Amino acid sequence: MRHFLTLADLTPAELQEILDLAVQLKTEWKAGGNPPLLGGKVLGMIFQKPSLRTRVSFDMAMLHLGGHALYLSPNEIQLGKRESTADVARVLARYVHVIMARVFDHADVVELAKWSTVPVINGLSDYSHPCQGVADFLTILEHKGTLKGRKLAYLGDSNNVTHSLIFGATKLGMDFALGAPAGYSLRPDVLALAEQFAAESGSRISISTDPRAAIQGADVVYTDTWTSMGQEAEAEERRKIFPPYQVNPALLAYARPDAIVMHCLPAHRGDEITDEVADGPQSVIFDQAENRMHAQKAILLWVLE
Ligand code: CP
Ligand code: NVA
Repeated sequence: MRHFLTLADLTPAELQEILDLAVQLKTEWKAGGNPPLLGGKVLGMIFQKPSLRTRVSFDMAMLHLGGHALYLSPNEIQLGKRESTADVARVLARYVHVIMARVFDHADVVELAKWSTVPVINGLSDYSHPCQGVADFLTILEHKGTLKGRKLAYLGDSNNVTHSLIFGATKLGMDFALGAPAGYSLRPDVLALAEQFAAESGSRISISTDPRAAIQGADVVYTDTWTSMGQEAEAEERRKIFPPYQVNPALLAYARPDAIVMHCLPAHRGDEITDEVADGPQSVIFDQAENRMHAQKAILLWVLE
Protein backbone atom coordinates (compact mmCIF):
# COMPACT_ATOMS: atom_id res chain seq x y z
CA MET A 1 0.00 0.00 0.00
CA ARG A 2 1.16 3.52 -0.83
CA HIS A 3 1.22 6.33 1.72
CA PHE A 4 2.25 9.91 0.95
CA LEU A 5 4.02 11.29 4.01
CA THR A 6 7.11 13.12 2.74
CA LEU A 7 8.69 13.74 -0.67
CA ALA A 8 11.84 12.10 0.72
CA ASP A 9 10.03 8.73 0.48
CA LEU A 10 9.44 9.01 -3.28
CA THR A 11 11.87 8.05 -6.03
CA PRO A 12 12.55 10.82 -8.57
CA ALA A 13 10.57 8.75 -11.09
CA GLU A 14 7.56 8.54 -8.75
CA LEU A 15 7.62 12.29 -8.12
CA GLN A 16 7.84 12.89 -11.86
CA GLU A 17 4.94 10.47 -12.42
CA ILE A 18 2.77 12.43 -9.96
CA LEU A 19 3.72 15.73 -11.63
CA ASP A 20 2.90 14.36 -15.10
CA LEU A 21 -0.44 13.12 -13.81
CA ALA A 22 -1.18 16.54 -12.26
CA VAL A 23 -0.45 18.27 -15.58
CA GLN A 24 -2.80 15.85 -17.36
CA LEU A 25 -5.58 16.25 -14.78
CA LYS A 26 -5.31 20.04 -14.84
CA THR A 27 -5.46 20.14 -18.66
CA GLU A 28 -8.47 17.83 -18.61
CA TRP A 29 -10.22 19.90 -15.94
CA LYS A 30 -9.60 23.17 -17.82
CA ALA A 31 -11.05 21.53 -20.96
CA GLY A 32 -14.35 20.81 -19.23
CA GLY A 33 -13.88 18.31 -16.43
CA ASN A 34 -12.27 15.13 -15.11
CA PRO A 35 -13.78 11.67 -15.55
CA PRO A 36 -15.16 10.19 -12.28
CA LEU A 37 -12.04 8.13 -11.57
CA LEU A 38 -12.78 8.17 -7.81
CA GLY A 39 -16.53 7.51 -8.13
CA GLY A 40 -17.86 6.09 -4.87
CA LYS A 41 -14.60 6.74 -2.99
CA VAL A 42 -14.47 8.71 0.25
CA LEU A 43 -11.57 10.72 1.67
CA GLY A 44 -11.52 11.21 5.46
CA MET A 45 -9.78 14.47 6.38
CA ILE A 46 -8.42 14.84 9.92
CA PHE A 47 -7.46 18.40 10.88
CA GLN A 48 -5.59 19.33 14.07
CA LYS A 49 -4.91 22.83 12.71
CA PRO A 50 -6.79 25.45 10.67
CA SER A 51 -6.73 25.42 6.86
CA LEU A 52 -8.20 27.15 3.82
CA ARG A 53 -6.28 25.70 0.87
CA THR A 54 -5.77 22.13 2.05
CA ARG A 55 -9.32 21.70 3.20
CA VAL A 56 -11.06 23.20 0.17
CA SER A 57 -8.67 21.89 -2.50
CA PHE A 58 -8.96 18.30 -1.25
CA ASP A 59 -12.73 18.66 -1.04
CA MET A 60 -12.94 19.97 -4.61
CA ALA A 61 -10.44 17.38 -5.89
CA MET A 62 -12.68 14.56 -4.61
CA LEU A 63 -15.82 16.26 -5.96
CA HIS A 64 -14.31 16.70 -9.45
CA LEU A 65 -13.25 13.04 -9.52
CA GLY A 66 -16.70 11.79 -8.52
CA GLY A 67 -15.86 11.04 -4.88
CA HIS A 68 -16.66 12.60 -1.53
CA ALA A 69 -14.57 14.22 1.21
CA LEU A 70 -15.43 14.14 4.89
CA TYR A 71 -14.08 16.98 7.07
CA LEU A 72 -13.23 16.04 10.64
CA SER A 73 -12.44 19.09 12.77
CA PRO A 74 -9.87 19.23 15.59
CA ASN A 75 -12.65 19.02 18.19
CA GLU A 76 -14.25 15.91 16.75
CA ILE A 77 -11.31 13.51 16.58
CA GLN A 78 -8.95 14.88 19.25
CA LEU A 79 -6.21 12.62 17.90
CA GLY A 80 -4.41 10.84 20.71
CA LYS A 81 -6.56 12.49 23.39
CA ARG A 82 -10.06 11.06 23.07
CA GLU A 83 -8.56 7.80 21.83
CA SER A 84 -5.21 6.60 20.61
CA THR A 85 -3.95 7.51 17.14
CA ALA A 86 -3.63 3.80 16.36
CA ASP A 87 -7.32 3.24 17.17
CA VAL A 88 -8.40 6.28 15.14
CA ALA A 89 -6.49 4.86 12.14
CA ARG A 90 -8.00 1.41 12.48
CA VAL A 91 -11.55 2.71 12.88
CA LEU A 92 -11.47 5.39 10.18
CA ALA A 93 -9.92 2.96 7.67
CA ARG A 94 -13.05 0.76 8.03
CA TYR A 95 -15.22 3.64 6.75
CA VAL A 96 -13.19 5.54 4.15
CA HIS A 97 -10.92 4.65 1.22
CA VAL A 98 -8.13 7.15 1.92
CA ILE A 99 -7.14 9.36 4.86
CA MET A 100 -5.61 12.84 4.82
CA ALA A 101 -4.28 14.23 8.09
CA ARG A 102 -2.98 17.65 9.13
CA VAL A 103 -1.16 17.20 12.42
CA PHE A 104 1.21 19.00 14.77
CA ASP A 105 3.67 16.16 15.33
CA HIS A 106 4.90 14.29 12.25
CA ALA A 107 5.04 11.13 14.39
CA ASP A 108 1.22 11.18 14.41
CA VAL A 109 0.92 10.90 10.66
CA VAL A 110 3.53 8.11 10.70
CA GLU A 111 1.50 6.36 13.42
CA LEU A 112 -1.72 6.72 11.36
CA ALA A 113 0.05 5.19 8.35
CA LYS A 114 1.41 2.37 10.49
CA TRP A 115 -2.06 1.27 11.60
CA SER A 116 -4.31 2.32 8.72
CA THR A 117 -5.40 -0.29 6.20
CA VAL A 118 -6.00 2.48 3.63
CA PRO A 119 -3.49 5.02 2.23
CA VAL A 120 -2.57 8.03 4.41
CA ILE A 121 -1.67 11.43 2.93
CA ASN A 122 0.19 14.05 4.98
CA GLY A 123 -1.73 17.33 4.73
CA LEU A 124 1.01 19.13 6.72
CA SER A 125 2.99 18.16 9.80
CA ASP A 126 5.74 20.00 11.66
CA TYR A 127 8.23 18.07 9.49
CA SER A 128 6.81 18.26 5.98
CA HIS A 129 4.15 19.56 3.64
CA PRO A 130 4.48 17.26 0.63
CA CYS A 131 1.17 18.19 -1.07
CA GLN A 132 2.37 21.79 -1.11
CA GLY A 133 5.65 20.60 -2.61
CA VAL A 134 3.98 18.85 -5.55
CA ALA A 135 1.80 21.93 -6.23
CA ASP A 136 4.91 24.12 -6.09
CA PHE A 137 6.95 22.06 -8.57
CA LEU A 138 3.91 21.96 -10.87
CA THR A 139 3.76 25.77 -10.66
CA ILE A 140 7.50 26.16 -11.39
CA LEU A 141 7.18 23.80 -14.34
CA GLU A 142 4.28 25.85 -15.76
CA HIS A 143 6.08 29.16 -15.42
CA LYS A 144 9.63 28.09 -16.27
CA GLY A 145 9.04 25.17 -18.65
CA THR A 146 11.77 23.02 -17.03
CA LEU A 147 12.95 22.12 -13.55
CA LYS A 148 16.40 20.57 -13.93
CA GLY A 149 19.20 23.08 -13.42
CA ARG A 150 16.86 25.85 -12.20
CA LYS A 151 17.74 27.59 -8.93
CA LEU A 152 15.18 27.77 -6.13
CA ALA A 153 16.06 30.18 -3.30
CA TYR A 154 14.16 29.92 -0.03
CA LEU A 155 14.36 32.82 2.41
CA GLY A 156 13.33 32.81 6.05
CA ASP A 157 12.53 30.08 8.53
CA SER A 158 13.53 26.48 7.68
CA ASN A 159 10.21 24.77 8.26
CA ASN A 160 7.97 21.98 6.97
CA VAL A 161 7.55 23.73 3.60
CA THR A 162 11.33 24.20 3.29
CA HIS A 163 11.84 20.49 3.91
CA SER A 164 9.42 19.52 1.14
CA LEU A 165 11.05 22.02 -1.23
CA ILE A 166 14.61 20.83 -0.62
CA PHE A 167 13.60 17.17 -0.89
CA GLY A 168 11.68 17.78 -4.12
CA ALA A 169 14.33 20.06 -5.64
CA THR A 170 17.16 17.63 -4.98
CA LYS A 171 15.10 14.71 -6.33
CA LEU A 172 14.26 16.68 -9.49
CA GLY A 173 17.74 18.08 -10.18
CA MET A 174 17.07 21.69 -9.17
CA ASP A 175 19.63 23.77 -7.27
CA PHE A 176 18.48 24.80 -3.81
CA ALA A 177 19.75 27.80 -1.85
CA LEU A 178 18.69 28.65 1.67
CA GLY A 179 19.00 32.10 3.23
CA ALA A 180 18.11 31.76 6.91
CA PRO A 181 19.30 33.32 10.16
CA ALA A 182 21.63 31.38 12.44
CA GLY A 183 19.57 29.10 14.64
CA TYR A 184 16.81 28.81 12.02
CA SER A 185 18.75 26.90 9.38
CA LEU A 186 18.08 23.37 8.16
CA ARG A 187 17.95 20.43 10.54
CA PRO A 188 21.13 18.36 10.10
CA ASP A 189 19.13 15.20 9.32
CA VAL A 190 17.14 17.00 6.60
CA LEU A 191 20.33 18.42 5.07
CA ALA A 192 22.01 14.99 5.14
CA LEU A 193 19.06 13.39 3.32
CA ALA A 194 18.92 16.19 0.74
CA GLU A 195 22.68 15.90 0.13
CA GLN A 196 22.18 12.22 -0.60
CA PHE A 197 19.41 13.03 -3.15
CA ALA A 198 21.53 15.84 -4.65
CA ALA A 199 24.47 13.48 -5.17
CA GLU A 200 22.18 11.30 -7.27
CA SER A 201 20.48 14.07 -9.28
CA GLY A 202 23.38 16.52 -9.68
CA SER A 203 21.62 19.32 -7.73
CA ARG A 204 23.69 21.83 -5.82
CA ILE A 205 22.75 22.91 -2.28
CA SER A 206 23.95 26.11 -0.66
CA ILE A 207 23.18 27.30 2.84
CA SER A 208 23.79 30.88 3.91
CA THR A 209 22.81 33.42 6.52
CA ASP A 210 23.07 36.11 3.84
CA PRO A 211 19.73 36.57 2.04
CA ARG A 212 21.40 38.35 -0.91
CA ALA A 213 23.89 35.55 -1.47
CA ALA A 214 21.06 32.99 -1.38
CA ILE A 215 18.83 34.83 -3.84
CA GLN A 216 21.62 35.68 -6.34
CA GLY A 217 20.73 34.29 -9.77
CA ALA A 218 17.59 32.52 -8.51
CA ASP A 219 14.85 31.49 -10.97
CA VAL A 220 12.43 30.99 -8.09
CA VAL A 221 12.26 33.01 -4.87
CA TYR A 222 10.23 31.35 -2.12
CA THR A 223 9.27 32.47 1.34
CA ASP A 224 6.86 31.35 4.06
CA THR A 225 5.70 32.58 7.43
CA TRP A 226 8.37 33.26 10.08
CA THR A 227 6.14 31.59 12.69
CA SER A 228 4.48 28.32 11.75
CA MET A 229 1.33 26.94 13.34
CA GLY A 230 2.24 25.66 16.79
CA GLN A 231 5.11 28.18 17.28
CA GLU A 232 2.91 31.15 18.20
CA ALA A 233 4.71 31.67 21.54
CA GLU A 234 7.91 32.51 19.62
CA ALA A 235 6.26 34.99 17.23
CA GLU A 236 7.49 38.15 18.95
CA GLU A 237 11.09 36.96 19.16
CA ARG A 238 11.06 35.79 15.55
CA ARG A 239 9.76 39.17 14.37
CA LYS A 240 12.99 40.72 15.66
CA ILE A 241 15.27 38.22 13.89
CA PHE A 242 13.75 37.73 10.45
CA PRO A 243 13.25 41.23 8.89
CA PRO A 244 16.51 41.05 6.82
CA TYR A 245 14.95 38.05 5.02
CA GLN A 246 11.76 39.88 4.01
CA VAL A 247 11.06 39.45 0.29
CA ASN A 248 10.71 43.08 -0.81
CA PRO A 249 11.65 44.84 -4.08
CA ALA A 250 15.18 45.68 -2.86
CA LEU A 251 16.01 42.06 -2.03
CA LEU A 252 14.20 40.65 -5.06
CA ALA A 253 16.47 42.78 -7.28
CA TYR A 254 19.30 40.29 -6.52
CA ALA A 255 17.40 37.42 -8.19
CA ARG A 256 17.18 36.92 -11.96
CA PRO A 257 14.97 39.62 -13.51
CA ASP A 258 12.59 36.89 -14.72
CA ALA A 259 12.43 35.11 -11.34
CA ILE A 260 9.04 34.07 -10.07
CA VAL A 261 8.02 34.68 -6.45
CA MET A 262 6.27 31.96 -4.48
CA HIS A 263 4.59 31.63 -1.09
CA CYS A 264 2.52 28.67 0.10
CA LEU A 265 0.11 31.07 1.91
CA PRO A 266 -1.28 32.20 4.27
CA ALA A 267 0.99 35.24 3.87
CA HIS A 268 1.78 37.72 6.62
CA ARG A 269 2.02 40.74 4.40
CA GLY A 270 4.52 43.25 5.73
CA ASP A 271 6.48 40.52 7.50
CA GLU A 272 8.01 37.85 5.25
CA ILE A 273 6.69 39.44 2.03
CA THR A 274 5.55 42.93 1.06
CA ASP A 275 2.31 43.71 -0.76
CA GLU A 276 4.34 45.16 -3.61
CA VAL A 277 6.00 41.78 -4.24
CA ALA A 278 3.04 39.52 -3.39
CA ASP A 279 0.81 41.46 -5.78
CA GLY A 280 3.58 42.30 -8.28
CA PRO A 281 4.21 40.94 -11.77
CA GLN A 282 6.65 38.23 -10.60
CA SER A 283 4.26 36.71 -8.07
CA VAL A 284 2.62 33.35 -8.85
CA ILE A 285 1.14 32.78 -5.40
CA PHE A 286 -2.43 32.27 -6.54
CA ASP A 287 -1.41 29.84 -9.29
CA GLN A 288 0.27 27.87 -6.51
CA ALA A 289 -2.91 27.91 -4.45
CA GLU A 290 -4.96 26.66 -7.43
CA ASN A 291 -2.38 23.99 -8.17
CA ARG A 292 -2.93 22.43 -4.76
CA MET A 293 -6.18 21.06 -6.18
CA HIS A 294 -4.59 19.64 -9.34
CA ALA A 295 -1.60 18.23 -7.46
CA GLN A 296 -3.82 16.52 -4.89
CA LYS A 297 -5.97 14.88 -7.55
CA ALA A 298 -2.76 13.30 -8.82
CA ILE A 299 -1.67 12.30 -5.30
CA LEU A 300 -5.09 10.76 -4.56
CA LEU A 301 -5.03 8.73 -7.77
CA TRP A 302 -1.42 7.71 -7.16
CA VAL A 303 -2.02 6.37 -3.62
CA LEU A 304 -5.24 4.64 -4.68
CA GLU A 305 -3.68 3.09 -7.81
N1 CP B 1 -0.71 26.35 2.07
C1 CP B 1 -1.59 25.73 2.89
O1 CP B 1 -1.40 24.57 3.26
O2 CP B 1 -2.66 26.48 3.26
P1 CP B 1 -3.76 26.09 4.37
O3 CP B 1 -3.03 26.11 5.70
O4 CP B 1 -4.80 27.15 4.27
O5 CP B 1 -4.27 24.73 4.06
N1 NVA C 1 4.92 26.66 7.60
C1 NVA C 1 3.52 26.98 7.71
C2 NVA C 1 2.79 26.51 6.50
C3 NVA C 1 1.32 26.81 6.47
C4 NVA C 1 0.64 26.27 5.26
C5 NVA C 1 2.94 26.35 8.95
O1 NVA C 1 3.28 25.20 9.26
O2 NVA C 1 2.17 27.01 9.66
